[in-house]
Amino acid sequence: MLDALPISIYVVDRELRVVGWNRLREEGPFGKPRDKVLGRNLKRTLPPAGFRDTALLLEKVFRTGKLHREVRETQPGKRLYEIARYPVMEEGRVTHVLCSFEDITQKRALELQLIASDRLAFLGQLVAGVAHEVSNPLAGIAGCAEALASIGLTAESEDARAQAREFRDLIRSEIARSERLVRTLLDAARPHPGSTADLRTHVNTALRLLERHPAFARVEVVSRIPETLPAALIEPDSLKQVVLALATNAARAMAGGGKLTLRAGRVSGNVFLDVIDTGPGIPEGLRTRIFEPFFSTDPANGTGLGLAIARSLVRGRGGDLIYRNRNRAGAAFRVLLVPVQGAV
Ligand SMILES: Nc1ncnc2c1ncn2[C@@H]1O[C@H](COP(=O)(O)OP(=O)(O)OP(=O)(O)O)[C@@H](O)[C@H]1O
Ligand SMILES: [Mg+2]
Repeated sequence: MLDALPISIYVVDRELRVVGWNRLREEGPFGKPRDKVLGRNLKRTLPPAGFRDTALLLEKVFRTGKLHREVRETQPGKRLYEIARYPVMEEGRVTHVLCSFEDITQKRALELQLIASDRLAFLGQLVAGVAHEVSNPLAGIAGCAEALASIGLTAESEDARAQAREFRDLIRSEIARSERLVRTLLDAARPHPGSTADLRTHVNTALRLLERHPAFARVEVVSRIPETLPAALIEPDSLKQVVLALATNAARAMAGGGKLTLRAGRVSGNVFLDVIDTGPGIPEGLRTRIFEPFFSTDPANGTGLGLAIARSLVRGRGGDLIYRNRNRAGAAFRVLLVPVQGAV
């Protein structure tokens, strides 16, 4: 049975005698023929340094009865292996430990490629959108400048001078709009690799900022984030940006008043943050479109970048942002993040 498995495996008893050694364990840079190892002590089959590490880990699995799993990088060809040591129990006692080695080099490379291509597709959409978005204010600015030139800044009549001031203000506000747009995009593109954030601290800071905002005057905000959550793999600023994007959307959807709930916890190896409102929710046909850059149902007030950037920020750190179907009314978004320690 062990021979049929696509991963390399050996089994040792409590004296660290090798009692199982599958076909794949005979191949590769660390492989040895089965008849040279079966019945012998592990010490004689592994290189000395490798044996010392392994013996300590095996001793722990025999003592605690708990599975031990790790990812290791090996020197030859820099390959990545996932190594697991499973306790084999008999009558409540660990009698053997089964060690498996899976070469996950290719799997990891594919995962990284997927993240990269996702970001590229996002950037492509973004560039097209930016060209479109920036050309609007530019056209406005050009038109106003033409009009100004024909009126003249030192026109005789008060009427003409008032008109000139109006065009000048329009130019200023269109320039400010372009600047805001460009700044949002640059912030989203700036990488801050490796930093981590404590969910409770940073979500609560973001909420304190929002509570004073007039859009939240009629919104009751409830935050339930346990103290015991592990830190998550994301930059504190990005996390704040994600929370702000989700919370301002919710407030906009509940202009007449409502309740915004934030709660967090752990789910299958991830940390999650749910942002739930009591607004009208999102029609089924729009649930994927809302994540496209520049998709907005309220273009007068929004650029449609909020969710697209938020999703790209968390995906860039191995997480995700999804819309959750719920039976109750209102919208519910879930942010999934990679915990920094204690991941299973
Ligand atoms: N909580 C929500 N309730 C109802 N509709 C929502 C909610 N969140 C997002 N939406 C819908 O998704 C669309 C896209 O959201 P997104 O945040 O990307 O852009 P926006 O809010 O319109 O603009 P921006 O965030 O750039 O100011 C919104 O226009 C809105 O129609
Ligand atoms: Mg938004």
